Amino acid sequence: MAYPPIPPKPVIEPGANEDDKSTTHPLHVRIRQQEILADLGVLALQGRPFLELLNETARLTAEGMEAEFCKVLEYLPAQNRLLVRAGVGWHQGIVGVATVGADLESPSGFALHTGKPVISNHLENEQRFRTPELLVEHGIRRAMNVILQGDGSPYGVLEVDSRSEGEFSENDVSFLQGAANILGMAIERQRYELRLKAALDRQQMLVKETSHRVKNSLQMVSAMLRLQANTVGDDTLKQHLAEASSRVSAIGRAYERLSYDPDVENINLGAYLQEVCRDAISGLSQCKLDFELVDEMQLDTDRAISLALVINELVTNAVKHGLSNRSDGHVWVRLARNDENSAVISVRDDGVGLPPDFDLRRSKGLGMRIVAGLSEQLQAAISHRGGSNGTEFVLTFPLRRRVDR
Ligand SMILES: Nc1ncnc2c1ncn2[C@@H]1O[C@H](COP(=O)(O)OP(=O)(O)OP(=O)(O)O)[C@@H](O)[C@H]1O
Ligand SMILES: [Mg+2]
Repeated sequence: MAYPPIPPKPVIEPGANEDDKSTTHPLHVRIRQQEILADLGVLALQGRPFLELLNETARLTAEGMEAEFCKVLEYLPAQNRLLVRAGVGWHQGIVGVATVGADLESPSGFALHTGKPVISNHLENEQRFRTPELLVEHGIRRAMNVILQGDGSPYGVLEVDSRSEGEFSENDVSFLQGAANILGMAIERQRYELRLKAALDRQQMLVKETSHRVKNSLQMVSAMLRLQANTVGDDTLKQHLAEASSRVSAIGRAYERLSYDPDVENINLGAYLQEVCRDAISGLSQCKLDFELVDEMQLDTDRAISLALVINELVTNAVKHGLSNRSDGHVWVRLARNDENSAVISVRDDGVGLPPDFDLRRSKGLGMRIVAGLSEQLQAAISHRGGSNGTEFVLTFPLRRRVDR
């Protein structure tokens, strides 16, 4: 926003002493004006609702000028008029409704188009400008207008009016222009924030749309693999295809969540993993799944997907090897916080237990390679125990990626 470094000299009616720098206000009023400018500065940074900001500025400005009236006029270029957007002192039905002309014959129009402050201390004798009807109706004798800069182009005009006798001086213009400049910066900032928010909303909408499409594509791939699994005669191949379908669908579930969750960067882990476990079991057997969610938690999408793939493998193995597709088997999954920065998830079954030579790091199966590789990526610690009463894998993982220094 470009403000002139030195405010232009005010346009004062002929007859007034233009060089008179003396103040018509006592010192305590000038001090109060300084305080008000400081208050306005704070107000401008507070991010109050727009109309509240305008009205509060009008109230404080009127107080600083010891005037009964003040208004913020918004320029409506299509009509070349100024709308009373906010103000104090006005009869009911004026603020938000009444307009005044913005042509050069009106004092506020002149201030708007030329950028020069306008002082009219004797409206009844005013020769230069037409006195707006609104001022006549309210019995106003003197008025002062300064331009209110907006975002790139002027927002409108800030005007103080008074019924009392007395004179607005050049010092008053400095105060009024100071108040208008602060308000102008606040207007610019609010509009900038609104544009930023609109851009952010649009970006989130696009992320959701993309997630929705990725989810649909992955669901299609998963469905095709499942169909293929049902058509091949070879049981091993059938199982491989079903597992591939389940891996793809575990990723698809993440994009499904992203497409409707308000948060597009993090995933509600409990709900997501519960779906993944349900999908993994339902494709393979009738065994019972018991998912215990002790604590709700969020995890960023990439890490949540890695974790889901690990859990998918562990649940699949529990059904496939531990329970050998027994329909009366039981799989327990439990997710809880470990401490403030980490969580723990366990997958347990009541099956036959791990083979005696089982070695997680040396397993030739794709499943354990996925588990070991992704656990490392997740910076997770993994342990297991397997005996006659079943197998349990326990993963402790940080909720945020740890950065090694
Ligand atoms: N819950 C479990 N109960 C019993 N044995 C298990 C369990 N989990 C893993 N195993 C054993 O560990 C082996 C390695 O598992 P891994 O997932 O790596 O391979 P896979 O399941 O045989 O094949 P893939 O996962 O590549 O389809 C399994 O073959 C099985 O013998
Ligand atoms: Mg496996």
